[in-house]
Amino acid sequence: MKKELSLAAYDRFRSFLHEKSGILLDETKQYLVRSRLVPLVHRFACPDVDTLIERVVSQREAIVTQAALEAMTTNETLWFRDKYPFDILQNKILPELATKQNIVRIWSAASSTGQEAYSIAMTVAEFLRGNKEAFRHGIQIIGTDLSTEVVKTATVGTYDSLSLNRGLSDEFKRRYFVSEEDKRMTIKPEIRKWVSFRQFNLTSNFAALGKFDVVFCRNVLIYFDSDLKTKVLQNISACLQSEGSLLLGASESLSGATKHFEMITQPSGLYYRKLKQ
Ligand SMILES: C[S@@+](CC[C@H](N)C(=O)[O-])C[C@H]1O[C@@H](n2cnc3c(N)ncnc32)[C@H](O)[C@@H]1O
Repeated sequence: MKKELSLAAYDRFRSFLHEKSGILLDETKQYLVRSRLVPLVHRFACPDVDTLIERVVSQREAIVTQAALEAMTTNETLWFRDKYPFDILQNKILPELATKQNIVRIWSAASSTGQEAYSIAMTVAEFLRGNKEAFRHGIQIIGTDLSTEVVKTATVGTYDSLSLNRGLSDEFKRRYFVSEEDKRMTIKPEIRKWVSFRQFNLTSNFAALGKFDVVFCRNVLIYFDSDLKTKVLQNISACLQSEGSLLLGASESLSGATKHFEMITQPSGLYYRKLKQ
């Protein structure tokens, strides 16, 4: 098999990836594209990477196109990533929502394999331990991601010891997980019941998602160009309730969408609140 990737094929794929997922690669990432696509060359029985790219961009086979887009995503995640967003959720945002006369809805907008959404759910469970009367109208946590593969893993909610050891204390493992074979553990049904996952592309229309009280959109905007970042943040603002909360990744900012939000500084870090309408 010829594994080289021609410059022409690389450029076509780069534009296609940008258009379909927002993910922006510069001219120097040929090695990355090649290494991520070679397994698909085998899987879809192509003679070489250029032919695979031809099939991907032609969009005649949805499974080939989707597999290539998914192969280009970076799904790195861990439990309670950066810690402070979950402190803010527990100490500031959840107390404000505790007496809401309607269901509380929280969105993990690039949920990868589910650690962020389940960390939110465990934070809710911790809050409820001291506030048993909170959220009388229910709580719903929705995780979405471009990649159907990670959505499947998140939906199952079973993790191996390597991923469990990235940010999860022994106490939380005991409290919120059940043990399986081979040191794997599955999130308990009482946590699982609040959380659902589905495939969703942040470049698409947000209308069907409904309104949220809190959005976690963390470590995904970094892959987008500034126009798309601004558009996604505007769309998030439109699907947040008035004064709803937005938590970004530690290295991410509001870029062009500052007029929709105010920055709230807390002892542990900062988050954004949608301006009152
Ligand atoms: C680095 S992970 C971040 C996971 C989690 N939010 C965290 O902070 O730990 C980025 C995720 O964004 C997803 N992603 C990339 N482009 C996307 C898009 N256009 N729409 C939805 N999700 C996307 C990837 O599939 C990947 O799972």
